[in-house]
Amino acid sequence: MNKAHVLTGITTTGTPHLGNYVGAIRPAILASKDPNVIPFYFLADYHALIKCQEPERVRQSSLEVAATWLALGLDTSNAVFYRQSDVPEILELNWMLSCVTAKGLMNRAHAYKAAVAENEQDQAADTDKGITMGLFGYPVLMAADILMFNAHKVPVGKDQIQHIEMARDIAARFNHIYGEHFVLPEASVETNGATLAGLDGRKMSKSYNNTIPLFEPEKKLKKLINKIKTNSLEPGEVKDPEGCTLFSLYQAFATPAEVAIVRQRYAEGIAWGEMKGILFETINEHIAPARERYEALLQAPDHIEAELQMGAQKARALSAPFLQKLRAAVGIAKL
Ligand code: TRP
Repeated sequence: MNKAHVLTGITTTGTPHLGNYVGAIRPAILASKDPNVIPFYFLADYHALIKCQEPERVRQSSLEVAATWLALGLDTSNAVFYRQSDVPEILELNWMLSCVTAKGLMNRAHAYKAAVAENEQDQAADTDKGITMGLFGYPVLMAADILMFNAHKVPVGKDQIQHIEMARDIAARFNHIYGEHFVLPEASVETNGATLAGLDGRKMSKSYNNTIPLFEPEKKLKKLINKIKTNSLEPGEVKDPEGCTLFSLYQAFATPAEVAIVRQRYAEGIAWGEMKGILFETINEHIAPARERYEALLQAPDHIEAELQMGAQKARALSAPFLQKLRAAVGIAKL
């Protein structure tokens, strides 16, 4: 039986936070244990350049993201774990795909439209002000990531579904012109606690600056949890778990039985201070063993690099011959 290719990437611009973990990394590691699946998990470092022009941050983030996957127990004997920039075929494919992608399709991409809308709001003379070709073509690079390895399933957050649909469109267009080369990928969206709330109650996200870093040292983790916004109900007053940031975070880490108990405590008017204590203990216990491995890995970048090189070798064993086939298909060949 042919194994299903499951592929996802993380852009290397920041430090992984609890929202990334619950929404993306934890389910991806779980999925990687399925013997019928070949997982392709990669550091999207060329994607990082779209949003971030601080070299040191891109490099540091690559280290942290890679250490995170390994600390959480990604089995790299089965998974293909690599850095996008170590697979130059992806950028070559990016160009081939660009040449079959309608500009109009890119005009409809959310990230680009949001940037234009912002310029319109600021009444900028040029609505494309500050928008790079990198941002504009971002969905094509993402399509190249996905199509290079003929991924069947792409686990992503809701905000990325449009990009997977664009990758399908682009693949279908290429196939129509040059023959059946690409699998049409499908998005798979994690619905189980997919959006975790952050410190201020909005979705936990780098762009809202409300995140709790996944491997924050214990003391800092405690401090951050104490900062989570609650309403002003007093101890003893009945509290509603629905829509409560503390409760939603708790649900992402506790067992159903534990959640049922805490739900009851809400009805009895648990104090916010006590709930924060319970939440801290639960998250900390869950994370502590991986955090220890993470800290050790950060001290051993050579080990991480060796893992990435092994992954790059496995990836290129597929991408290099595939790209040769694609080059021939479009008429780029030795005479
Ligand atoms: N753009 C994705 C994000 O910001 C990251 C990403 C890059 C990705 N390439 C990908 C995800 C390919 C899935 C497949 O979350």
